Amino acid sequence: MIQNLLRHLAGLTLVVPLLAGTFFLMFAPAPHAQPVQTNDEFILSLAGYIDQSKLTPRERLGLRLFFDPTLSEPGGTACASCHDPRRAFTGNNSTLIGVAQGSRPEAFGTRDAPTTMYLEHVPKFGSIQSDGKPVPAGGLFWDGRADTLEEQAKQPFFNPLEMNNPNAPALIAKVAKAPYAAEFRKEWGDKIFGNADAALDAVAASIAAFERTSVFQPFTSKFDYVMRGEAKFTEQEQRGLSLFTIRQKGNCAQCHIVDTDSRDPKKSLFTDFSYRALGVARSMRIPKNAADGAFVDLGLCERVPVEGLKPGAEAPTPKITDPAACGLFKTPTLRNITITAPYMHNGLFDSLRDTVAFYATRDTHPERWYAQGKKFNDLPAAYHANVDVDTPPYQRRPKQRPQLNDEEIDDIVAFLFTLTDGYNPRRGGIDISTQPSAAPVASKPAAPGARSDY
Ligand code: HEC
Ligand code: HEC
Repeated sequence: MIQNLLRHLAGLTLVVPLLAGTFFLMFAPAPHAQPVQTNDEFILSLAGYIDQSKLTPRERLGLRLFFDPTLSEPGGTACASCHDPRRAFTGNNSTLIGVAQGSRPEAFGTRDAPTTMYLEHVPKFGSIQSDGKPVPAGGLFWDGRADTLEEQAKQPFFNPLEMNNPNAPALIAKVAKAPYAAEFRKEWGDKIFGNADAALDAVAASIAAFERTSVFQPFTSKFDYVMRGEAKFTEQEQRGLSLFTIRQKGNCAQCHIVDTDSRDPKKSLFTDFSYRALGVARSMRIPKNAADGAFVDLGLCERVPVEGLKPGAEAPTPKITDPAACGLFKTPTLRNITITAPYMHNGLFDSLRDTVAFYATRDTHPERWYAQGKKFNDLPAAYHANVDVDTPPYQRRPKQRPQLNDEEIDDIVAFLFTLTDGYNPRRGGIDISTQPSAAPVASKPAAPGARSDY
């Protein structure tokens, strides 16, 4: 316990000052900031961080739905509560425990809310070749249970641990009362609210259209400027990139794909969408883990039809019964990684440096990561063989020199800092002037992992 706490604190002291700087520059509030009055107003105000001028009517509807806190049961929780634009669309509804809280108090999930950025090009679930072997890849959620953004967008509304609506008619009744109901009819037809299923499809299609805009894939990080020849890495960032890509060092790029020969940023999404078992340690701050020692999140082989998810809301997802899929989770993008803490599917790490250090010393110093040094303690023994222990950076044995030393870990983290959108090549920093011309009305940006005003 104490060891965990110390590690937690050490991680925070390293990372928070760096992040706070990035935050303020990236999302500095406009001078005419209004005081926040209520929860709902605060969530709605987050939409002010987005330039709406270039959105089509359908995309704008998607935005209104995404930021509407009246669409949960009880009200107060919007998509944006867990996918906050100031944190590259992450945030877990402001919990400090690594996983999200839903609209009902004490309704905690078991997974960290991933960023909704850079999902436009995620392929449907299938497989890819990696190191000459077929590996499952594609789809949305940590377990790939939705193939498209449309399919995905229907689930949170009815997930009892998220927005908790009982069924489509209940949700659509709320949309029909929303201030944008007239725009909704204009876009989707006068009779749209008469058919709850068709209206739900329209809600999902609007949200997906919004998520496919450049708001979610701006490609404005320092990395992108460097690739276009408009900025230069520092020496440390350059070293970090090398360590990130070289197979005998970090080998990170094997899964977190980067193509430094291409000026097309879509070639560098920092994920191959593959599913892998990293053997991340059990997080005892997840209430369900603490309460139920037998509960394990098996990822891909379960593809949880979320417990209690109301029928009709759920797209049929084929169960994957292959035991080799147990313990596998999707490789997330690393774009904006410095502002999307906590990390890993279970939100285990608050610090990015710890996350990178985990790769380096998981196998050489397991006692640093696992209670009593018992490796892969969040997976039943039958599935331990699914965890990769042969490819770098994992091919080390206990007490061997780690694949990456402390300085090299720092270099990789420095490189990861270049992946934050909103870089201003003239000033050499992250700056709101390269962000869409937003008129934010929120009072103050939240620190990562900190409870903000809502
Ligand atoms: C209470 C918090 C919460 C709310 C509210 C919420 N989400 Fe999420 N979101 C999550 C979590 C947690 C996950 C990961 C769940 C999983 O993998 O099983 C997720 C996953 C996603 C993903 C998949 C990302 C990826 O990389 O595959 C998308 C897209 C998404 N949410 C969009 C939405 C939209 C749209 C809404 C509103 C309709 C919404 N979310 C509401 C917490 C939330
Ligand atoms: C074999 C594929 C693979 C390699 C190699 C790999 N990763 Fe990952 N990475 C993943 C997967 C899969 C996850 C999610 C695992 C989970 O949550 O259980 C992940 C998660 C992460 C996260 C947390 C992302 C988030 O949003 O929570 C970071 C940061 C990260 N990796 C950085 C790195 C770095 C740095 C390296 C090289 C030292 C690296 N990865 C090497 C597959 C890989």
